[in-house]
Amino acid sequence: MTAEWKYAIRLSDIPESGIAECVIDGRIVALFTVENTIQAVDGICPHQGGSLANGSLHGCVIRCPWHGWEYDIHTGQHQSIPSVCIETFGTRIVNGCVEVKLS
Ligand code: FES
Repeated sequence: MTAEWKYAIRLSDIPESGIAECVIDGRIVALFTVENTIQAVDGICPHQGGSLANGSLHGCVIRCPWHGWEYDIHTGQHQSIPSVCIETFGTRIVNGCVEVKLS
């Protein structure tokens, strides 16, 4: 399947925290505003399904709110388990809206 850009959220609707959760084509995607860029990752923690958008962001690392697994939001890489990596997605801004390139 070819990746397509999909509408995610209006920039003005992103909370002050810089973290938002969107449902795009039935997938839950977490968005993080970091250093004036927007990073998008799979919003569901592969451990037991915690919502990463409800986690806490430490630099470029998101900590799952349920049991503390941590992921680099740029690469998706788990911070201590090399075999665990969440999916990341490209983002762009079009007319004041965030679009995500789903794979
Ligand atoms: S569900 Fe995310 S760490 Fe357990």
